[in-house]
Amino acid sequence: MASTIYLVLLFLFFCMVAEAQDVEFLFNGFNGSEANLTLDKVSIIKPSGLLRLTNKTQNAVGHAFYSEKVQMLNRSSSSSPNASSFSTAFVFQIISPSKGEGGFGFAFTLSPSDRLPGAEAGHYLGLFNSTNDGWSSNYIFAVEFDTVNGFNESTDSVGNHVGININSVDSKAGKPASYIDDVDRLGSFEELVLESGQPIQAWVEYNGVTKCINVTIAPMDHGKPIQPLISFPQDLSTYVREDMYVGFSASTGNKASSHYILGWSFSTKGEAPPLNLSRLPIALQEKNSSSFRPSVIVIIASLCGVTTLLFVILFFLTVYKIKWRQSEALEDWELECPHRFRYQDLYTATKGFKKSEIIGVGGFGAVYKGRLPTNGNEVAVKKINNNSIQGLREFTAEIESLGRLRHKNLVNLQGWCKKNNDLLLVYDFIPNGSLAGLLFSRINNFVLSWEQRFNIVKGVAAGLLYLHEEWEQVVIHRDVKSGNVLIDAEMNGRLGDFGLARLYDHGTMSHTTNIVGTIGYLAPELTRTGQSSTSSDVYAYGILLLEVACGRKPVETSNFILIDSVIEYHQMGRIIDAADPKLNSAFVVKEMELVLGLGLLCSHRKPKARPTMRQVTRYLNWEDKLPVIDDLGSPDSLRGSTKFMEVSVSSNTITGSYPSSSIGYMTSSSMDAGR
Ligand SMILES: *[C@@H]1O[C@H](CO)[C@@H](O)[C@H](O)[C@H]1NC(C)=O
Ligand SMILES: *[C@@H]1O[C@H](CO)[C@@H](O)[C@H](O)[C@H]1NC(C)=O
Ligand SMILES: *[C@@H]1O[C@H](CO)[C@@H](O)[C@H](O)[C@H]1NC(C)=O
Ligand SMILES: *[C@@H]1O[C@H](CO)[C@@H](O)[C@H](O)[C@H]1NC(C)=O
Ligand SMILES: *[C@@H]1O[C@H](CO)[C@@H](O)[C@H](O)[C@H]1NC(C)=O
Ligand SMILES: *[C@@H]1O[C@H](CO)[C@@H](O)[C@H](O)[C@H]1NC(C)=O
Ligand SMILES: *[C@@H]1O[C@H](CO)[C@@H](O)[C@H](O)[C@H]1NC(C)=O
Ligand SMILES: *[C@@H]1O[C@H](CO)[C@@H](O)[C@H](O)[C@H]1NC(C)=O
Ligand SMILES: *[C@@H]1O[C@H](CO)[C@@H](O)[C@H](O)[C@H]1NC(C)=O
Repeated sequence: MASTIYLVLLFLFFCMVAEAQDVEFLFNGFNGSEANLTLDKVSIIKPSGLLRLTNKTQNAVGHAFYSEKVQMLNRSSSSSPNASSFSTAFVFQIISPSKGEGGFGFAFTLSPSDRLPGAEAGHYLGLFNSTNDGWSSNYIFAVEFDTVNGFNESTDSVGNHVGININSVDSKAGKPASYIDDVDRLGSFEELVLESGQPIQAWVEYNGVTKCINVTIAPMDHGKPIQPLISFPQDLSTYVREDMYVGFSASTGNKASSHYILGWSFSTKGEAPPLNLSRLPIALQEKNSSSFRPSVIVIIASLCGVTTLLFVILFFLTVYKIKWRQSEALEDWELECPHRFRYQDLYTATKGFKKSEIIGVGGFGAVYKGRLPTNGNEVAVKKINNNSIQGLREFTAEIESLGRLRHKNLVNLQGWCKKNNDLLLVYDFIPNGSLAGLLFSRINNFVLSWEQRFNIVKGVAAGLLYLHEEWEQVVIHRDVKSGNVLIDAEMNGRLGDFGLARLYDHGTMSHTTNIVGTIGYLAPELTRTGQSSTSSDVYAYGILLLEVACGRKPVETSNFILIDSVIEYHQMGRIIDAADPKLNSAFVVKEMELVLGLGLLCSHRKPKARPTMRQVTRYLNWEDKLPVIDDLGSPDSLRGSTKFMEVSVSSNTITGSYPSSSIGYMTSSSMDAGR
């Protein structure tokens, strides 16, 4: 009896020991977590819940370690202990100064000490110093996220990179920061600029049995790519001590960035618990900070130089006008505008433009979700910082006219507000995110059904017809794409961001508007003449039809152009084979044939061959029969048009930083985040 009790106690004791070995924690933001972390040097937890490892002070070091040690050696058999498996996930933001480049970087770290005394800043990342760099007695394992050319040019030469460092600043393995966008099935590596300021999620996993370290990164809203960026076979058993601290170390040098950790989870008993991304605090970039690379900045700067003179004149005119009117808060023409919102209301609706209300961030500002205090309606408020739209009367007239557009298949612009340099646009809040988000969703294997897809493309056609023909003026959308179609609660498609391109015509940025649009949706004549027309909108709508039917993006790699592929199926007489395999043949063949055929007709390379939106609506309602489609061009002639695309890709990369295209980005991302 006694021995049984003894055995039970012994068993319990071993269970407890085994339990104690495992560590698992999750921080969705670091609010109230001061006690769980050991912060050292310049690291702080901000009131917003952000863990800031360094700010932009030069030659600074910041450490943050989980305050309890983690048992890293598995001594289940005494002879040669193995390093335990671990898995960690975290989201970080590196915000570089608005002028020039930032530096240096930060590292996820396993270390025997939570202070690392004597460690130096700069490329030593607060982990080593010139004396002990490379010593095996350091027992430091680090995964570095480094934005500056390394210390040793030959081994660490790429600035924007991720590397695995053991006891030394020289990386054992490293790769330029990138991820495989496996939403595109052909999966190519997409570059990810670490110091762009966007939130990036990283996963570091070590398997103690297969002895392999995997490091994966992706933009925060992307989900985890299946293929890791670095998969490096390395037995860590001789490089870790029995008890280690886990955490982060960051440093700045002559160049300095702010390094933030938004959320962090860690586990030694399997996969790290997933972060709840919607609960993470987000660090906002300072006003006017630029996230673009120097070459782009140079181009933008030179383009802007041309307009600087205009700005100066405009500025003095505005100052003069304000002085003259002195006490008047509103200019009288502004008072005549029925869609003008009171700044105070929008301020209240978005809780003072609070960071937690942000549902999307783009290059030019953020989109906030808000509830209007006046009527309790939910709205999406797009906040655009742009000096170039100051005091332009026609600009306001244009917004007023867009505000009068009303259709159930449009994301209605409810109104606007201008305060200093900020333009606030108030839209209906659309709950289900963008069509692109749903089509290429990776969440729970969600597949949009054919019935829903057919209904959505019909809705978009109705919205576009309204813009083209049914309103008092012809409105050319110029950026029809799946990312600009939002899906409402009844699963109807609603076209967003219409008319914004035209708004910019009234601004001083008009020299850019001839390249408004998105690669893959640009009609061939557009890339030659730059002249948008209803017919180029029809072209883009045709591409959208193909996208919806095939479940693939218009351009996936330089080798896969969706329309070329559908034309090839069409010419082989097997157009139905182009249907999205994810639908599993669950579609009405006649409807699928109609959508694919109509897609080809709308995206016909000759503008004259394309139908009008009214005609498109008739086809979709079976009122007219689709004509036989021919003269699509041979695959060889198509290659030519592909080349053309490549030329325009580069021009779009440049203009991608201009307001018109970035606004589109904001809607889609905002709605994705809102989902
Ligand atoms: C943080 O510390 C508190 C108090 O010691 C504890 O209750 C809590 O579980 C810890 N949180 C994490 C994520 O470790
Ligand atoms: C953290 O707490 C502060 C105030 O205590 C609050 O303003 C902020 O929204 C909180 N952040 C998160 C992410 O909960
Ligand atoms: C960084 O933070 C320290 C203390 O928190 C402050 O004294 C310093 O001015 C900050 N530096 C910058 C560049 O913001
Ligand atoms: C320790 O090793 C044993 C046997 O190899 C294994 O069953 C156990 O899961 C390991 N524990 C940890 C925490 O890795
Ligand atoms: C380097 O770091 C070690 C241990 O952290 C410390 O003992 C040593 O004094 C440091 N050397 C210098 C030159 O700072
Ligand atoms: C850089 O790394 C290479 C290869 O590891 C080594 O031969 C060289 O001595 C290193 N240079 C410096 C300056 O440390
Ligand atoms: C690392 O990645 C490889 C290749 O994708 C995969 O086979 C392996 O299971 C991964 N290991 C861990 C620890 O996740
Ligand atoms: C250490 O790993 C090796 C190879 O994976 C395995 O054969 C051995 O049993 C492990 N030892 C312990 C103590 O878990
Ligand atoms: C994430 O947090 C939000 C807000 O706190 C909550 O509504 C949601 O259920 C959470 N999601 C998960 C997966 O825990």
